Formats: sequence, C-alpha cells, structure tokens
Amino acid sequence: MKKRVAILISGRGSNMRALIEAAKAKDYPAEIVLVLSNVADAGGLDFARTHKIPTQVIEHKKFPSREIFDNAVNTALKAANAEIVALAGFMRLLSPRFAESWHGRMINIHPSLLPAYKGLHTHKRALEAGEKLHGATVHFVTAELDDGPVILQAKVPVLPGDNEDALASRVLEQEHKIYPEALRLVAEGKAKI
Ligand code: GRF
Repeated sequence: MKKRVAILISGRGSNMRALIEAAKAKDYPAEIVLVLSNVADAGGLDFARTHKIPTQVIEHKKFPSREIFDNAVNTALKAANAEIVALAGFMRLLSPRFAESWHGRMINIHPSLLPAYKGLHTHKRALEAGEKLHGATVHFVTAELDDGPVILQAKVPVLPGDNEDALASRVLEQEHKIYPEALRLVAEGKAKI
C-alpha cells in the first residue's frame, strides 16, 4: 500500500512538483493525496490542479491565532487521510502541538546544510560567511524551527563569482533530487525518528 502524503506549500512549489513527478512511478511507495496552501495564489496550486491532485487553500490571515489555523490544517489533513506531511516551501511556523501530533510523520526541505543556517536567507548568509560548501537538507519536523533529525543532505560547492541566485539554483537542483528520495525512505519506513 502506498503511503498517503499531503504537501504543504506557500509559493512556487518546485519541490512539490518534484514529489508529484516522483510519485507517478508505479513502484514509488507514496501517493500525493492533497496539496494544501496557506496562500490563495501560490504558483504550485496550478501544477497540482493540472495533475488532478486535490488542492485546498487555508489562508492563515483569516484565522485569529496560529493554533486555530493549525487546527484547520490538521482537520484538512485528517479528512484527506494523510499519513505523512511534506512541507515544501511552507512559510508558516507550526505550533508545537501541531508538530508533536505529526512527530515522525512530517518532513521538511531546507536550503542549507543543517544545522548551519536555520531560518531565512540561507544562500545570502552562506555567501557572506565565505562558505566553500553549501547545500540542502531534508529533515523530520519537530517543534523547533529547522531542527529535527536529518534524513538526507546534498552538498554543492560555492563557486567564485556566485551570487544568491546562482547559488540558490544550484542548491534547488539538488533539493529536487533529495526530497523525493527522502520521502521514499520515510514512506518505506527506512528513515524514522
Ligand atoms: C526551497 O528552497 C526550500 O528548500 C525552502 O523553500 C524553497 C521553496 O521552493 N524551504 P519551492 O516552492 O519548492 O520551489
């Protein structure tokens, strides 16, 4: 049985796209049953719709608190019978309660070699620090931001003359490879907390 996966996005959704493409393979152990966005015009929604994947928009700004928003998201995930949640450029902090209720079943992709450069503007900060090596990490989500156990990482070199865009696209190319691989490991039970 394929594991039922919901993807949470806020924007262009290129990682979501990589997961959807990977999940088309017959022998892939997961199927994407829902793409949920907290932003109504997130670019990724169109791709999901075109691929006949159920989509849902739950706008955080319509909720009085983080907890109430998270509850609404949780209700949607439960309604879709999601077993695994994959955050893919989902730009909302999740309440500890939400994170704990998906402990070991929620993963995220982050554009740095964690534990280095948690948070935003990772490429800019890596460049400013003069790093020679940068990359991306897929990890389990815990209550702490960008902090849970690492599942897979990909390293990329920082090259002379790199700017933020050049570095970001080199990293993104790797993100699209490791995220489907990491989801496979989690769905197969080969990566767990
Ligand atoms: C990616 O760099 C991802 O690592 C980070 O947010 C970005 C999302 O890009 N969490 P996309 O929406 O998947 O194209």
